[in-house]
Amino acid sequence: TDEFKYHICCMGAGYVGGPTMAVIAQRCPHIRVCVVDISQTQIDAWNTDDLPIYEPGLLEVVKESRGRNLFFSTDIDSEIKRADMVFISVNTPTKTTGIGAGKAANIKNCELCARKIAEVADTPKVVVEKSTVPVRTAEAVRRVLATNDRGVKFQVLSNPEFLAEGTAMPDLQEPSRVLIGGMQTDAGLAAIQELVDVYSNWVPKDRILATNTWSSELSKLVANAFLAQRVSSINSISALCEATDADCSEVSRALGYDPRIGNKFLNASVGFGGSCFQKDVLNLVYICESTGLPEVAEYWNQVIVMNDHQKARFTQLMVKRMFNTITGKKIAVLGFAFKKDTGDTRETPAVFVCKALLEEQARVQVYDPQVKRSQMFIEFDYTCGVNKDNTPKLEESIVTCEDAYSAADGAHALAILTEWDEFKTLDYQRIYNNMAKPAFVFDGRGVVDIEVLRKIGFEVYCIGKSR
Ligand code: NAD
Ligand code: UGA
Repeated sequence: TDEFKYHICCMGAGYVGGPTMAVIAQRCPHIRVCVVDISQTQIDAWNTDDLPIYEPGLLEVVKESRGRNLFFSTDIDSEIKRADMVFISVNTPTKTTGIGAGKAANIKNCELCARKIAEVADTPKVVVEKSTVPVRTAEAVRRVLATNDRGVKFQVLSNPEFLAEGTAMPDLQEPSRVLIGGMQTDAGLAAIQELVDVYSNWVPKDRILATNTWSSELSKLVANAFLAQRVSSINSISALCEATDADCSEVSRALGYDPRIGNKFLNASVGFGGSCFQKDVLNLVYICESTGLPEVAEYWNQVIVMNDHQKARFTQLMVKRMFNTITGKKIAVLGFAFKKDTGDTRETPAVFVCKALLEEQARVQVYDPQVKRSQMFIEFDYTCGVNKDNTPKLEESIVTCEDAYSAADGAHALAILTEWDEFKTLDYQRIYNNMAKPAFVFDGRGVVDIEVLRKIGFEVYCIGKSR
């Protein structure tokens, strides 16, 4: 018992659970919010000022509410018991074995959460799917919850999250929209209203969209598929620009002026990364295949095919430009995170580029302002099975550096793989002076000023630009 009239529990203290609940607690001081997780280390970190994830502005928001109405705990059972509303915000990664391996999303963690809720709940609860799940998962969650043997009533809502890493705080504080799906029954509509009442503490009513459960679940997959498709579309055009003297950033600009197309998300790159684009597109592909829609599946699968091509194309080009051999050459990799302003490396294109460079027996010198060395090796192992056991010289072949200057020291080339702001203002003359000649720059993110670098003496290649 405590002074709060309403209690929220969130299962899963990751990139979504932590920031989302921190903002709910900040905007709803009258609600007690507790984030629980099976990982003690994760929870311990949330209770310090060295949070388990890097996200600009997050620490300030956490500190505002932590200990007041925001708590982090591993006492999962009692937090579920006291909650009026339970969010499920656990990871739903692509299956690696069994039926649908390599495509289908594994919803095991969601089911385990539902089983846990069914096991311990003795009062009615609204259960909210925050995780990204295959369409119709709420049905499985509902049936598992119904196994509760005390006759407790549950309502299941779908409330997918649209935040992007690096901008999670503004995305949560001023969301483009909040999507809530539920059963179109009296009890379902009442549950939707209960969640609307939480969000309407800070989100304008016209941005809160209520739909049926399945539209909500599916919309999340489709939103990510459309975004990933846009990146693959512009990346496909980047290759054509390079072959024709068109400039991809000028093409993007020209497209963006058409309000029907819009000017966002048109930056050609070394490929998209992140924990969700590939996972969610593949999940959509799998759902289409299993619903007997092979043409639709094939259409969306091309988004992934193009992204794989873009990552491979980048390294092939590096090798080709550097006289078809990079054996023994030092290559400075600037940026390892999958985008700027995050330390997240999941599915980062940098892993694929570095792996290809290592296969050519280059020596890779990496600098990223937020990614730890240990994290890089975890990612190599996870994404492409590269580890100390099967690649004995791995630890020696990859050097991690404290800044861009030491990474570039003695290098034959710079490969810019993340668009960190600080890479725009480096002293490139100083870098040039300490590099082997000819000094190459391969810009996979459109970060550098090509003309300035060419004047210094660099040989510059930028994605989507000729020469
Ligand atoms: P994450 O891996 O960062 O965090 C998931 C957490 O859940 C982990 O800390 C894990 O220990 C915990 N967990 C797993 N099983 C549990 C259980 N049975 N009980 C309690 N805790 C458990 O994952 P994430 O990036 O936060 O993603 C979560 C979901 O949100 C995924 O479905 C993802 O697709 C979706 N999503 C992610 C983002 C993003 O930017 N990362 C954005 C929108 C949606
Ligand atoms: C993305 C979506 O933007 C979020 O709305 C969604 O909630 C989230 O996935 C999710 O479901 O996990 P996120 O992956 O964090 O967010 O970051 P994005 O900004 O979308 O970038 C994804 C990748 O695309 C990055 O590697 C980025 O560098 C790349 N990208 C993005 C480009 O190459 N070009 C662009 O123009 C935009």
